Amino acid sequence: MNVVITPLFVRLTHWLNAIAVIVMIMSGLRIYNASPIFDFLIPKELTLGGWLGGAVLWHFAFMWLLLVNGLIYLILNFATGRAKKKFLPISPKELVRDVLDTLKGKLAHDDLSQYNTIQKLAYLSIIADIIILVISGLAIWKPVQLPLFSELMGGFENARIVHFLAMAYAVFFIMVHLVMVAVVPKTLRIMIRGK
Ligand code: HEM
Repeated sequence: MNVVITPLFVRLTHWLNAIAVIVMIMSGLRIYNASPIFDFLIPKELTLGGWLGGAVLWHFAFMWLLLVNGLIYLILNFATGRAKKKFLPISPKELVRDVLDTLKGKLAHDDLSQYNTIQKLAYLSIIADIIILVISGLAIWKPVQLPLFSELMGGFENARIVHFLAMAYAVFFIMVHLVMVAVVPKTLRIMIRGK
């Protein structure tokens, strides 16, 4: 098959996003350890930045990569009509069929140019999750200058909980995502070479 399935802009923004998300999570966990909101700490080996000041520097540097790269991904996906083509429609009937096929272990993967309903929902959910992460992060960073975001999150303390839970969902997504990629490794070639 010689047709490009995944355009260059998606591949570039996907890999830059993967780097940004991993650095954001690991440095964020170090920041969490300096002022935990729950009664547990994260093992040091899973964190980045060494100390609070270092972790904040990593977090703020890669925040810009996450934001700008994410905006480029979203704008180009909408402008080219790719978002509509790849992620819609989502039909409950097809979702039930795809879930049943998955449970039976016979979900079809022969046409890799189209996402099945589970993929569509998984990808839309992580996109929404990252938007929530950015908004709750801004609410924590500038609670006075950005009162709207802070209010939207139910105040500063709530914004921290939302930020943490959204991070936890991202970790869960990444683990399932990697298992899925391992199950259908051909998709990895497409996300690297485009076809
Ligand atoms: C670090 C290791 C990662 C690997 C090896 C990887 C691999 C892949 C592959 C192979 C695909 C295409 C899968 C398919 O055809 O269904 C894909 C798509 C996708 N991945 Fe990842 N990924 C990684 C990290 C991430 C992270 C950290 C995120 C976000 C938090 C992410 C979000 C997505 C999204 C949203 C898509 C769909 C993109 C689109 O078609 O517009 N990935 N990934």
